[in-house]
Amino acid sequence: MAENVQEMIHLVALGRCCLSCGGLILLTVWNHQLIGNSFTGKSICKTAEVALRPTFSGRIRSINVSDNILRYICHEEHMSCQKCVCKELSFHFQTFGPYLRCLRLLNVLCVTETSELLMTSKLQSLVLRWIRSEKHVEPLCKLLIQTRDTLTSLEFIHCKLSSSSISAICASLHEKGIHTTGMQRFCIKTSSIEIDPLAAPSAFVSFLMSVRTLHSLHFCDSNLDRHIARMVFSTLLDSSSNLSSLDLSENNISGWLSTFSCRSVVGSLSSGKFLQSLCKLNLRGNELDRYDAENLAHALLHMPGLESLDLSGNPIEDSGIRSLISYFTKNLDSRLADLDLENCELSCCGVIEFLDTLSMLEKPIKFLSVADNALGSEVAEAIVNSITVSIESLNISGVGLGPLGFLALGRKLEKGLKKLLSINISKNRGGLETARFMSKLIPLAPKLISIDASYNLMPPEALLMLCESLRTAKCDLKRLDMTGNSCISHEADHSSLHREFQHNGEPIFVLPSSSVSHVPYDDDP
Ligand SMILES: *[C@@H]1O[C@H](CO)[C@@H](O)[C@H](O)[C@H]1NC(C)=O
Ligand SMILES: *[C@@H]1O[C@H](CO)[C@@H](O)[C@H](O)[C@H]1NC(C)=O
Ligand SMILES: *[C@@H]1O[C@H](CO)[C@@H](O)[C@H](O)[C@H]1NC(C)=O
Ligand SMILES: *[C@@H]1O[C@H](CO)[C@@H](O)[C@H](O)[C@H]1NC(C)=O
Ligand SMILES: *[C@@H]1O[C@H](CO)[C@@H](O)[C@H](O)[C@H]1NC(C)=O
Repeated sequence: MAENVQEMIHLVALGRCCLSCGGLILLTVWNHQLIGNSFTGKSICKTAEVALRPTFSGRIRSINVSDNILRYICHEEHMSCQKCVCKELSFHFQTFGPYLRCLRLLNVLCVTETSELLMTSKLQSLVLRWIRSEKHVEPLCKLLIQTRDTLTSLEFIHCKLSSSSISAICASLHEKGIHTTGMQRFCIKTSSIEIDPLAAPSAFVSFLMSVRTLHSLHFCDSNLDRHIARMVFSTLLDSSSNLSSLDLSENNISGWLSTFSCRSVVGSLSSGKFLQSLCKLNLRGNELDRYDAENLAHALLHMPGLESLDLSGNPIEDSGIRSLISYFTKNLDSRLADLDLENCELSCCGVIEFLDTLSMLEKPIKFLSVADNALGSEVAEAIVNSITVSIESLNISGVGLGPLGFLALGRKLEKGLKKLLSINISKNRGGLETARFMSKLIPLAPKLISIDASYNLMPPEALLMLCESLRTAKCDLKRLDMTGNSCISHEADHSSLHREFQHNGEPIFVLPSSSVSHVPYDDDP
């Protein structure tokens, strides 16, 4: 038996595997050694075809673990013996159960037998998939009650949670009046939550109100409307929560802050405490408009610790960005360091004003994305100013710079860019001017490690120009993405380029022929 199994054992029901194997799912015990091995999700998946079907109704404990998996856990001699006890899953639960910390569980495994098998486990993290019917909720609650003393992270993916399910789940996690639960992370994604915001289940409300240890609350892509979002927000306002990350991305919550008023926050002592502790707010893809941006700007004034804000994919337009400008001018010492305004229907007027405001801040923005807004070439000067002053990572992919924009960028570049670490100028149709700009940029930015210049219609001489500047400049560049520049031939042999330009043995240039990326099989959404 593998030694030192503590913290090494994961019981995994691979959700992705389930889909790609046509409804077959896998339940297996493995250890750390296995994860670090060449044993990939794909081959596990193949061996899993003997395992469970969605209609599985047998006993989980008597499932036979495949030889492939056993090879990693048991001695060879055990494997040669067909009747060996270690073939049965129950043996693994007994042996490894006490060390089990993380569990991913598919709906069909969410049965009473599982919680019996996990009696000795001190689970810390539980991920549930495809819980869509009430019949899986009861056994789940049993498991939650059993593990709530150690559980710190709970995640639901592809689930459909009715009001009564949510109520039962929250009630299992949180016993009224007792603060035993140490839940830190509660996350529902790509699911649907069906609660009536006017009659939210009291267990849900009291869970949000009183779980002081909670620092991450995520409801992403889960059919939230403005009413539910408002209910969650105002519950948090009244709570004593110490939340640091709130993620409501990919819902449709426009209007959610329309009743937010500053007075209600200042009103009572405990209220609004969570606004104080919030570091990260993700509102990506929520149909938020200029009015939402205005309300948000008021709320931001009460979030002194906010460091990261994602507003991408919301049509806030220039008036929305002006609300943010007014927030910044009232808060020159704002701690916001990471701001994503990708695809917000901004124009160059709004963005230029915004970039000019940033230069006044005491604590500068470090990561900024204004990608996928139609800004045009006029934005160039303001961009150069902002990367000269403070920005470490800038994303101006797909903003319509064109050759004129790159020309202007290059002309304005004079001073050293001491802070710039990465820049994304992809999809700007800049042609050769893109390369001219880069050859000027590279020697001026000693810390620059990554440039994404893909999809810029660059001709072959662009590559020569860049090689020249890499040869002469003292720089630390690790990666220069040139993919999607069709003028760089796919067939050409780039091996000499890769040999000459390396960083720690890795090629610096990412070129069309070498761009085939390895997609890991078991990368969870
Ligand atoms: C497990 O393997 C044993 C021995 O090979 C076999 O008798 C038994 O039917 C198998 N159990 C299942 C559930 O397939
Ligand atoms: C609040 O959470 C932060 C980490 O997010 C932690 O450092 C701090 O101690 C917590 N405060 C309280 C009162 O629990
Ligand atoms: C978003 O919600 C509003 C009503 O709250 C509705 O009118 C609109 O169609 C929804 N948009 C989408 C894309 O679902
Ligand atoms: C630029 O934006 C894209 C799309 O949002 C994102 O995936 C990428 O990480 C960003 N790149 C940088 C360097 O910020
Ligand atoms: C640059 O932005 C594009 C899209 O806006 C994105 O696909 C790409 O991943 C980004 N590059 C990097 C290096 O983050």
